Amino acid sequence: MPITTCVFDAYGTLFDVNAAARAAAAEPGGEALAAVWPRLAEDWRRKQLEYSWLRAITGAHADFRKVTEEGLDWAMEAAGLNDAALRDRLMALYDELEAYPEAPAMLAALKARGYATAILSNGAPGMLASAVASAGIGDRLDAVLSVEAAGVFKPASAVYDLVGRHFGCAPRQVLFVSSNGWDAGCATGYGFTTAWVNRAKAPVDRLPWRPAHVLADLSAIPALLESL
Ligand code: LAC
Repeated sequence: MPITTCVFDAYGTLFDVNAAARAAAAEPGGEALAAVWPRLAEDWRRKQLEYSWLRAITGAHADFRKVTEEGLDWAMEAAGLNDAALRDRLMALYDELEAYPEAPAMLAALKARGYATAILSNGAPGMLASAVASAGIGDRLDAVLSVEAAGVFKPASAVYDLVGRHFGCAPRQVLFVSSNGWDAGCATGYGFTTAWVNRAKAPVDRLPWRPAHVLADLSAIPALLESL
């Protein structure tokens, strides 16, 4: 059964999650952040994801904006930053993250070849709408699917079910693309064909399932789809 539908994780995959801290550090008032922003960005992302998993496991769902704020609060305290204006600025920048440079042309190539395209993300609908609009890629996506429709975070199968529910396709008709190794691995377990975008050349996650394909960035997705 051929692939009909190409579905992308959002944060870290289409959008550069480090862009918020990097940009805030370069702005007036960002001097204290400038010395520590890479560590803050890494802590922020790690805590955001840990809190999403813990809320999913315990049934204590809150939306991704709340989890993102809580991760940021931990990361700022760890960095010794106590600055409410900086916190507000970092959260605002999260709504206008840069897309990776190759993302717009890659999505346009998929649309030209007749694939359905979508985002499937932990992001709350408002966060995703802002990021998609700010990156100017809305016209290249057939759907922006948020976990809020399932009320639980990835990698719960109820989240991956949203793709089939929206497009009426079987899991094996879907190429699921994520830069998060755990997301790509668990999506393989769900039944999607998967591609892990491993920009950081990280080791593969030790899970019961492995990503089917590993790519250095998003530019090889159209060629990968043609080869499947
Ligand atoms: C997302 C997170 C996992 O966009 O990156 O779903």
